[in-house]
Amino acid sequence: MCGIVGYLGKKSATPILLSGLKRLEYRGYDSAGICVLENGALRTFKKEGPIQMLATELEKQSLDSQIGIAHTRWATHGRPNEINAHPHYDCHHNIAVVHNGIVENFEGLKILLEKEGHKIVSETDSEIISHLIEKFYKGNLEQAVLEAVRLLEGTFGLAVISTSENKLVAARRGSPLILGIGPDEVFIASDASAIIEYTNQVIYLEDNEIATISESGYKIESLDGHSINNQITEIKWTIEEIEKSGFEHFMLKEIFEQPKAIANALRGRIKDDKIKLSVNFDSKKIDKIIITACGTSWHSALIGKYLLEKIVGIPTEVDYASEFRYRSPIVRENNLLVVISQSGETADTLAALREIKNCETLGIINSVGSTISREVKSGIYLHAGPEIGVASTKAFTSQVASLVLLALYLKEQISGQLDKDLSVELLTIPEKIQSILDQAETIKEISQNLVNAKNLLYLGRGINFPVALEGALKLKEVSYIHAEGYPAAEMKHGPIALIDKNMFVIFIVNHGPIFEKIISNMQEVQARGGRIITITDTKDATIEKLSEFVITVPSVSEELSPLVNIVSLQLISYYVASANGINVDKPRNLAKSVTVE
Ligand code: AGP
Repeated sequence: MCGIVGYLGKKSATPILLSGLKRLEYRGYDSAGICVLENGALRTFKKEGPIQMLATELEKQSLDSQIGIAHTRWATHGRPNEINAHPHYDCHHNIAVVHNGIVENFEGLKILLEKEGHKIVSETDSEIISHLIEKFYKGNLEQAVLEAVRLLEGTFGLAVISTSENKLVAARRGSPLILGIGPDEVFIASDASAIIEYTNQVIYLEDNEIATISESGYKIESLDGHSINNQITEIKWTIEEIEKSGFEHFMLKEIFEQPKAIANALRGRIKDDKIKLSVNFDSKKIDKIIITACGTSWHSALIGKYLLEKIVGIPTEVDYASEFRYRSPIVRENNLLVVISQSGETADTLAALREIKNCETLGIINSVGSTISREVKSGIYLHAGPEIGVASTKAFTSQVASLVLLALYLKEQISGQLDKDLSVELLTIPEKIQSILDQAETIKEISQNLVNAKNLLYLGRGINFPVALEGALKLKEVSYIHAEGYPAAEMKHGPIALIDKNMFVIFIVNHGPIFEKIISNMQEVQARGGRIITITDTKDATIEKLSEFVITVPSVSEELSPLVNIVSLQLISYYVASANGINVDKPRNLAKSVTVE
């Protein structure tokens, strides 16, 4: 949520900052700005709208500077417009600041600063930071930033430059920031995608740390003044992984990457009749599992509950991370807290993790080196590669595959025996998903029937109820069409009132004990004129009769069925949204990584 880039080195700063912003655009795209220090003056350019607007403006300028900061915004306080876009200035345009996070006490600080004569021009919480730095500036930028951030309540990841010193200062509390280290140059960025083109050597700033970068190098200190020697980490992925590689959108590319992503999540983890995970706790002691996450990751958590209870037999609770920390969850020493996050930076999920100190914790995370991945006691990386599309797709299926692995691992540790059939079948999932992707053209044609729909219902049962939720979320996110996921049998307790001849209902129907029951639910919809699309692994005359369209998927064990069922739903969302001319990679109001609560 919001992206920051900073540069100090020997090259021209503007193209580096701009390319970084383009790579970070998935974090926020309502306005963008850049500020460079040129001949002792700060030159700032801001534009409302996508980064391309700023890029077009910058083409008209000739800027000669080797130091600068830039920002792409997802509005929290204040509308998206040029005044509210970052960088923000102090009163005399000597200090420029870009900020991610929320300053919770900004109203109070604003009153105080205005009483002292500061002129605050934007509606943002961020602008007060530049005025606080101005207030404390006595010839040392780093010292002034330190004093300013000590007054801030809430979260920040920020980068600051000034006219008086050739320095770049960055500080972090609760909002991710990394330093990229190159020969004779240092970068600052919200995440590695902004700078991977230039360096794969990064340092993750921790909370309450401040970095000062100058021509002579960089130093990192804690906010209470202790010097810190953070490790340099090598980023393993490459620039190709964050390019569209011929696909029109990242979302489509990532849907098609799922066979590879799942193969990567499983690679080396099912071996010699064992499940290999880096888990540091005694599985036999775990008597309850609590999974917490947000959004799509919460849907995979719900699937995790089915898997863990069915395969391992340990009672499992699932909670929205945003709710978990504000109720009084009962967590005991022998419980396992599982946190699931693609980005590893989601503020609510991180806050929930930090709330719990007394039990084992395990992260299922995609983004290597992210804050959550560093704070959990054990972890399973998805290895799905960077996910850029705002709508999560390959991370979801990789999370589900990792949850199957976790369940198999716990079962094996507790019983001493691997569920061989399921683990062998799990390895076949990439090719099964490929066979659905091979039907993409047919799914595209079916999707054209939905482009004018106003409402949809997604119905599934058991382990496929969360798949219905995820299918509906995907459609809402990228096409703006209202959709609800429901357990199929619950439909008659309310949502059935919505059904008429204009209503499409998508059923997920798998072979198994509730097959007949779900067929009855289909009859109920058809009797009321509803139009049915069915995703099924079963060739059945009644399904054919009741459905306007049928998408057939490979038949797999119930535990693995979410992995094949979700793929057609992802494709439907993509094709409906693109037929409606929506840029699915930048759906309105959304940002990839939600780093504010
Ligand atoms: C998914 O399509 C969403 N954009 C969103 O719900 C996302 O899953 C959620 O914000 C959690 O993100 P995380 O997995 O990075 O923690």
